[in-house]
Amino acid sequence: MDTMERCKACGLVPVVVIEDANDAVPTARALLAGGIDTMEITFRTAAAKDAIRAVAQQVPEILVGAGTVTTLKQCKEALEAGAKFIVSPGFDPETVDYCVEHSVPVLPGCVTPTEIMAAKKRGLNVIKFFPANVYGGQKGMKALSGPFPGLQFLPTGGVNGENIQDYIRESFIAAVGGSWVCTKADIAAHNFDRITALCRQAREAIDAARSAK
Ligand code: 3PG
Repeated sequence: MDTMERCKACGLVPVVVIEDANDAVPTARALLAGGIDTMEITFRTAAAKDAIRAVAQQVPEILVGAGTVTTLKQCKEALEAGAKFIVSPGFDPETVDYCVEHSVPVLPGCVTPTEIMAAKKRGLNVIKFFPANVYGGQKGMKALSGPFPGLQFLPTGGVNGENIQDYIRESFIAAVGGSWVCTKADIAAHNFDRITALCRQAREAIDAARSAK
């Protein structure tokens, strides 16, 4: 299964903010124990690079990517550390072009037809849609999928345990992303059992929504 297929199969790509790189491996293991085998470690903290490296080396069962990548420099650092995919809140042509040239799966944030056209021009068929709850949620993505058949979205921003099934049910949604299963507070407090429990709930919700399709 390639990277994008694995994200789709999992259905959830947790958005993870790690302040202390030592928390990365236990967090990855907590996600895995809850049935979630992908994670996006965000470049919002100085620990991001070391956190990605630790997970890539010590928890090979999980597909680890880098999130909040806003520059080509960060993208290169993330790949050097072992990130298997790159997620960006917006569309940075330099980063996207580099990833496409180097066959690195990349999910740029696109919320307008113009941004989507730029992504499609580079052969991308899955994009991040952020912040999903501000840009019209399912209604917004549905309207955008009209002129772009085959395009699939990874919505993030406001997705949670209550509304995940509404997103997963839609055929134009590849998977969802979000931080509710592993909040900064839970990671910092080492509430790894709670992270596992929230992942298990999400896993069950995804599986139920998909089997009802
Ligand atoms: C992201 O970068 O994708 C978002 O910060 C995730 O949004 P959430 O915190 O509302 O889940």
